[in-house]
Amino acid sequence: MVTTNVDRSCLDRSGLARTVALTTFGVVASMLASGLAYGSAHAGATFFPATRSFRLDGGHVTYAFGVTEAGLLQSTYWGPRLAATDVLEARAPRRVASIDPTSSVSPQEYPGWGGGLYTEPALKIALPDGARDVVLRYVSGRADESGVTVELADVARPIKVTLHYTIDEQTGIVGRSATIRNAGRDPVRIDQASSAAWSLPVGDDYRLHSLTGRWAAEWTLESRPIAGGSTVLESRRGSTSNHANPWFAIDRADLSTEESGPVWFGALAWSGSWRISVDRNPVGDVRVVGGMNPFDFGYRLKPGESLDTPVFYAGYSDQGMGGASRLLHRFELAKILPGGPTPKLRPVLYNSWEATEFAVDEKGQMALAEKAATIGVERFVMDDGWFGARNSNKAGLGDWTVNRTKFPDGLKPLIDKVHGLGMEFGLWVEPEMVNPDSDLYRAHPDWVIAMKDRPRTEQRNQLVLNLARKDVRDHVLKTIDDLVTRNDIQFLKWDHNRNWSEPGWLGVDPADEQRLYVDYVRNLYWIIAELRKRHPNLEIESCAGGGGRVDLGILALTDQVWPSDNTDPYDRLSMQDGFTHAYSPGVMMAWVTDSPSWANNRPTSLDYRFLSSMQGGLGIGANLNHWTEADFAGATRMIAAYKQVRQTVQRGELYRLIRPTDASPRSATFYVSRDRRQAVLFAFLHSSAKNNVLSNIRAAGLDPASRYRMRPIDIAASADQPIQSGAFWMAQGVELPMKGDFQATARIFEAVD
Ligand code: GLA
Repeated sequence: MVTTNVDRSCLDRSGLARTVALTTFGVVASMLASGLAYGSAHAGATFFPATRSFRLDGGHVTYAFGVTEAGLLQSTYWGPRLAATDVLEARAPRRVASIDPTSSVSPQEYPGWGGGLYTEPALKIALPDGARDVVLRYVSGRADESGVTVELADVARPIKVTLHYTIDEQTGIVGRSATIRNAGRDPVRIDQASSAAWSLPVGDDYRLHSLTGRWAAEWTLESRPIAGGSTVLESRRGSTSNHANPWFAIDRADLSTEESGPVWFGALAWSGSWRISVDRNPVGDVRVVGGMNPFDFGYRLKPGESLDTPVFYAGYSDQGMGGASRLLHRFELAKILPGGPTPKLRPVLYNSWEATEFAVDEKGQMALAEKAATIGVERFVMDDGWFGARNSNKAGLGDWTVNRTKFPDGLKPLIDKVHGLGMEFGLWVEPEMVNPDSDLYRAHPDWVIAMKDRPRTEQRNQLVLNLARKDVRDHVLKTIDDLVTRNDIQFLKWDHNRNWSEPGWLGVDPADEQRLYVDYVRNLYWIIAELRKRHPNLEIESCAGGGGRVDLGILALTDQVWPSDNTDPYDRLSMQDGFTHAYSPGVMMAWVTDSPSWANNRPTSLDYRFLSSMQGGLGIGANLNHWTEADFAGATRMIAAYKQVRQTVQRGELYRLIRPTDASPRSATFYVSRDRRQAVLFAFLHSSAKNNVLSNIRAAGLDPASRYRMRPIDIAASADQPIQSGAFWMAQGVELPMKGDFQATARIFEAVD
């Protein structure tokens, strides 16, 4: 992930490294002048032994830290890329009063709870002799092509910590994680192990943005000033959660807008319980500490064992929230998703859930597949209800054998039919769960997450299988592997429809029970990775009661995500707005479903539903048996239009021109292809009022000097359509007369020369 153009052989203690890095800066400066939106491939990780300082440069970002005289590792800089000649050395922090000791007011890179630390620690450890503090000091460090590695150790006990740093050469996104090692002879218990602490420059106008929600209402962007004290974003649910997402962005109220000003942002690659705490300490410094949630955490490390934290990625943009999310999208597509740097485009899919719920059978699914094929669908997905005694959510989970009443000859006839119609076949599974009314549970009641002799809480009539157990892990892999091996399946929708409760691990030493929080997630990752290895063409969607498991950890193993069970096309506009602050539209699935929507009983036109759903990966979830001729014709037209722009939508640059906040009658998004030859504008009107004339919508991100023809998205190019320069479309804008309630329209811009 990191490349370095620093020739290690020419490093010496007198600062030759700076000279080499200056060359790097020169290249970047000239690229900046040439207007490139992202950094060059010249990135570097540098160690300056004389001053014991470290520096990572990538994209337009410099991230630096160093060692104080007292041996504390502390942040020295994080922001716009600096000249290589700039000196960034760690100094003892200014002291305000003895009541706030150095350790608390120092911007430590990885503070242990000890030595008078009153702010959020990254690490907290309990030793068998009763010691519960850990005071980390710098031991050694090095920079190489993969980044920076720093060794820390406790001042008195055999606790070692290795910090890992990488930087992405294109986006300047820094990846940080830690390895905590018990180098002693007795077991120790880790009570808190964060991935990283991030320190922001001094400032008093910081605003925190986060994504919160609930089932059917995920992805609400919330913003608040960062005041003294702590703000905690977290999941205690064992998985990522619909309630809060492990992403943050911090901008400056006085300086930042959607398209300008500084934004620091980050996202955790972890699908278990997590926490990100944002603190403003007594001297006014803002720090973000995040990783696995310390709540109910307790990981016993035997002598010689170590614990690796997940990676916490973070970046900086000086182009506002829009610039920050474009960096994240680029990074996710290139460095996180399977198939990066060019992950496959999302095919148009059909999903049966809203049409049939559990009432799936061979005849009904074949009839839907025939209809789906006629409108241009490329992947047919059968959802819940095809296996075991699964006629409702009360039974069958865990029994992944085909229900012979519904599919007398197995899945083959349906799969062959779908393939014969020219579509891929996909199937819904929920491998981590079990209904107590299932053969699996009857055979293995001890396989679930539960506490000994305690009542168990069921959600959706189901319990969670304890994937941390090796036998359960192997069983789940074998079951899904068999399913995919025996049937010609191209895609799995991998669901996870409840959160944990009573998180115990039956049968292990109670001192090891809380390893569940780590081992479960690691085994989940292992199962999916192994499955993908055995079936390289298999694609997977992450779903968890809607958008409950979307994070950079699961995205490294899955190709797309289901953001919400709420498919109301108007609600989706604000959810998609929130979602794209953190995640690429290229993984964001959206279905066109029936009108009125079940969520709000709101009727909307087919075009409105399509244009809402075409802003990510497009799916159809309507009951096609109820469609009219006109619906089929409209859908065929819109799916064909989508295929013309999907590369731009899924892989291009997103500009949120008018955000769909509660107060805005209108919203608009704009997607520009990487080569700036194509762009697409989606615009929505919530409701007209008072015969208002709407202002022009101004494009963004086009090449000012190129000329673009603008046409309605579903109408072929013709000579009477306007052609203007990119400069014109961005300055004068587009006049889009819209009247009525829940109106939608879209335009394509194509470079003509
Ligand atoms: C969850 C998913 C839905 C659907 C159902 C099936 O709620 O989010 O899309 O798959 O499960 O039971």
